Amino acid sequence: MSDTTWADVDDYFGALLAGPEAELRSVVDVNAAAGLPPHDVTLLQGKFLHILARIRGAQRILEIGTLGGFSTIWLARALPPDGSLVTLEVNSDYASTAKANCERAGVISQVSIQVGDACESLSRLHADGVDPFDFVFIDADKRNNVRYFRWALRLASAGAVIVVDNVVRNGDVLDESSSDPSVRGVRAVIDEMSRESEVVATALQTVGLKGYDGFVLALVSHSREDAAQ
Ligand code: DHB
Ligand code: MG
Repeated sequence: MSDTTWADVDDYFGALLAGPEAELRSVVDVNAAAGLPPHDVTLLQGKFLHILARIRGAQRILEIGTLGGFSTIWLARALPPDGSLVTLEVNSDYASTAKANCERAGVISQVSIQVGDACESLSRLHADGVDPFDFVFIDADKRNNVRYFRWALRLASAGAVIVVDNVVRNGDVLDESSSDPSVRGVRAVIDEMSRESEVVATALQTVGLKGYDGFVLALVSHSREDAAQ
C-alpha cells in the first residue's frame, strides 16, 4: 500500500460519492493555475466538512484561511438560504481568486471574504458584536492555531463545532522538539484543547490525495451565559 493507493481510493470514492459535485474539481485547477499553494482540502474532505456543517444545522460559519475558496464553497453550500459564512484571508490575491470561485459556484451572496491579518479580523468581528458562529474551520497559518482556537471559542455558540485542518503533517506532529513553526503550532493547539474544559475534542488521521494528515474535531460545550460568568 502506498500514497498511490490512497489517491486511487480517493478517486474511486470521489467518482461515486462526490460525482454531482465534480464541477468543484475545476476550482482546484483554477487555484493551481493562479499559483496558489496546493493546500485545498480534497473533494471528499470538502464534502466531509459540508456534511458536518449540515449535521450541525449551521446557520453561521466562520472559516479562518480562505485560500482559493474550495472549502468555503463546500461549507457555504451547507447553509440554509438565510445562512452566512465569514472567511478570513491575509493574501489579497488568494482572496480575489476565492471571490471569483465563489461567484462561479453561486455562493457569493452568502459569503463575506474579509482580507487582512486573521487575528485583527477576529478582534474586529468581536468588537463589532458579531453573532456567534455554529461551525468554525481553522485552516490558516498553523503557527497561530492557538490564537485562532481561542477566538473560535470566544465567537462560538454553545454546541458549535470547531474543525482544525492539518494536524498530523505526515506524522511530524509527534516531534516534540520540532523547529517547524507549523508543527509547533499544531502541538500547541492540541495542548490547549487538552486543557480546555469548554470543548470535547478528538482527532482523525486521514490518508488520500493529499497524503497523510488529519483533522481535529471539537464540540463547544459551554453556553454563552456560562462563559460570561
Ligand atoms: C499546509 C497548509 C494547509 O492548509 C494544508 O491543507 C496543507 C499544508 C501547509 O502549510 O503546509
Ligand atoms: Mg489545510
